[in-house]
Amino acid sequence: MEVLEAITTRRSVFKFKPEPVPIEAIQRVFGYGIWAQNHHLTEPWRFIVLGTETKEALAKRYSEIQEAKAAEGVDDAARQVLADAGYKKFHSKPTIVAVSCVQDGDEIQNREDYAAACCAMQNVALAAWSEGIGMQWSTGPITLEDETYELLGVEREKEYIIGFFYTGYPEEVLEGKRKPFEEVFRYTP
Ligand SMILES: Cc1cc2nc3c(=O)[nH]c(=O)nc-3n(C[C@H](O)[C@H](O)[C@H](O)COP(=O)(O)O)c2cc1C
Repeated sequence: MEVLEAITTRRSVFKFKPEPVPIEAIQRVFGYGIWAQNHHLTEPWRFIVLGTETKEALAKRYSEIQEAKAAEGVDDAARQVLADAGYKKFHSKPTIVAVSCVQDGDEIQNREDYAAACCAMQNVALAAWSEGIGMQWSTGPITLEDETYELLGVEREKEYIIGFFYTGYPEEVLEGKRKPFEEVFRYTP
């Protein structure tokens, strides 16, 4: 796939086919991440593929988060429905890769490193798309919790989890929407 085609056709994927993406393909597409542009070449990106035990632990936690969204006064059965749906939803993401970014510099360095790691994520998303692999970048509450940092072995003082990449073969691809380019582009005199 041509790079321009990948840029415009790539969409976030929310529904995946159940089969997992082979680990070789995961390694290949994440390998494109490290070629992102990066001021001072600090190479701040880190990619962490969730193993079965970690995924199970996080699915349980995700289920609790979903259950907690129940309105006040909702009965136990309805809460259980939310919890079960959350558990199932988390497990419907065939492969989950957390992307973190080393944050051990001054404020400007940390900002630039965050930006570079986001560039790496875009590289990965485009490379994956060109191989027929879909992704959704998620920054949901579960990516921010202490328990998640512990489970993934990420030291919060030195590294920030930018998001989870839910990864798999697309079951459904939604239509892309953007405002007209002219609305976001201008010249100065
Ligand atoms: C930094 C970042 C965080 C995101 N977090 C979420 C998220 O938590 N939940 C979600 O459904 N989508 C998330 N997305 C995906 C966006 O919703 C998606 O990119 C947007 O709707 C545009 O759709 P497209 O990627 O198909 O063009 C995130 C995207 C980015 C760049």
